[in-house]
Amino acid sequence: MTARERIAGNVAGYVDDRTGGAKWMKKNLQKVFPDHWSFLLGEICLYSFIILLLSGTFLTFWFDPSMREVVYDGVYEPLQGVKMSAAYASALEISFEVRGGLLMRQIHHWAALIFMVGIVVHLMRVFFTGAFRKPREFNWIIGIGLLTLGIVEGFLGYSLPDDLLSGTGIRIAEAIIQAIPVVGSYLSYFAFGGAFPGLAFIPRIYIVHVLILPGIFLALITVHLMLVWYQKHTQFPGPGRTEKNVVGYPLMPVYMAKAGGFFFIVFGVTAFLGAVASINPIWLYGPYNPGQVSAGSQPDWYMGWLDGLVRMAPPLETYLFGYTISWNILIPGLILPGIMFTGMALYPFIESWITGDRREHHLLDRPRNAPNRTAIGAMALTFTLVSLINGGNDIIATTFDLTINQMMWFSRIAIIVLPPIAFIVTKRLCLSLQRADRDLVLHGRETGRLVRMPNGEFVEVHEPISPEKAWLLTSHEQLAPLELPEHDGAGVRRPAAIRNKIRNRISRAHAVAVPKATESERRELEGHH
Ligand code: HEM
Repeated sequence: MTARERIAGNVAGYVDDRTGGAKWMKKNLQKVFPDHWSFLLGEICLYSFIILLLSGTFLTFWFDPSMREVVYDGVYEPLQGVKMSAAYASALEISFEVRGGLLMRQIHHWAALIFMVGIVVHLMRVFFTGAFRKPREFNWIIGIGLLTLGIVEGFLGYSLPDDLLSGTGIRIAEAIIQAIPVVGSYLSYFAFGGAFPGLAFIPRIYIVHVLILPGIFLALITVHLMLVWYQKHTQFPGPGRTEKNVVGYPLMPVYMAKAGGFFFIVFGVTAFLGAVASINPIWLYGPYNPGQVSAGSQPDWYMGWLDGLVRMAPPLETYLFGYTISWNILIPGLILPGIMFTGMALYPFIESWITGDRREHHLLDRPRNAPNRTAIGAMALTFTLVSLINGGNDIIATTFDLTINQMMWFSRIAIIVLPPIAFIVTKRLCLSLQRADRDLVLHGRETGRLVRMPNGEFVEVHEPISPEKAWLLTSHEQLAPLELPEHDGAGVRRPAAIRNKIRNRISRAHAVAVPKATESERRELEGHH
């Protein structure tokens, strides 16, 4: 043993005697993780969150969350002598006078965008592969919580500098709060500490943005990852992979090295974007003034769909018992997002209610093998995409020489018509892909080689696929639809007859599938060839 090894051993022994950590480490560092590129999406969220914490901490050293009025006398000439809040002046100072300040602001903003893209794409992979099924329903709900908090945290972040764009966003938030029936105006006064915009809002959202929400994020992400650890990671089906094992690489050294490298890739991309791509150039917008709106005001993309929904709402208002109910804000701003997020959170329970499947699942689905789920996902994405497009209706209209009215009517019609079309087309596509899989198993791969038969007919030579591939294409389960009885043994209609009937119907629609190739069919055809 060299002197260096002896010292390392002594230090490790010293720590282990006092913490008992060696046994725990030995067990956990050997933990196996399955390998698939889509499992890195959660890591992108994690790393961009770390970048957000680090770059955000840097910004807090200079940012002054105060509505105190100052006269700008910094280095940015076009705004010199302009009255503004101390918050806006300090954001300008960070951008122009603090060394590395603009880079940090841009890294922080880019990291927020990447964080939100990461969350949404990670959510999509979890949804489309069925990773949310038992026992991971809680983790799915925590995920929906993280998504919601991410949207709020991002919104509060870009509201802080008190520039014209951020004030315009806060004005919309105020309108949404005020649209809550009966208590709306009281809530708004409570949140703003008086009439809009007031002096209290920016200092308040600052504390929420830098302390309260990051604290909740840290707690939720910790529980999220502990659950992944404890429940083990799901895996795609493959040779040797079962519902009871995990096939992959150990945490140490393979995953540690991969994860460490991947952090620096995410950081590198964020830093590169922060260095070369301008984002939120607040000096061009000017300080917030409730009487002004800059042309082409756009929220960040993860708020764009909400803005788009509000922009397309028809002017519906009811006057009831002395209160005005603004349906045009209430429905797109609160009711629809409420339905969307509750529906997402409850989806794992809804699906297991439809299928009657209460078993644990650790093997993932290929999206095509769950056509109904995949179609529901495509429908929801289409809805969100149409809203997002309408969130940029003014920019699209000016770019493509359209009128705002044309854009609005397109969106109003598209948001009703396109999602069901997306559902039907996706479901058909999934079933066609299932049929293609079936053909592949039964007839083999098309080689592109044509052979002329003695009778003059041309046929294409098919090559059988490997047994592993054939197994992969046929290993999934095809659950039969529910057949809940409407009558009891004595032929009397059950009290739950109508519910059972509806459930049977939905379950039948959910279970539609192209029967997968069976071994006997394969053998029969082999004898044929
Ligand atoms: C702050 C945001 C989030 C972070 C940092 C995060 C992080 C992670 C990580 C590192 C994993 C393991 C690797 C992987 O499967 O990608 C994971 C798994 C998982 N995440 Fe997230 N996630 C976040 C948001 C979400 C959201 C929005 C959802 C869904 C609504 C979600 C649901 C899940 C589920 C169900 C698993 C287990 C997947 C499996 O075992 O296959 N997460 N998350």
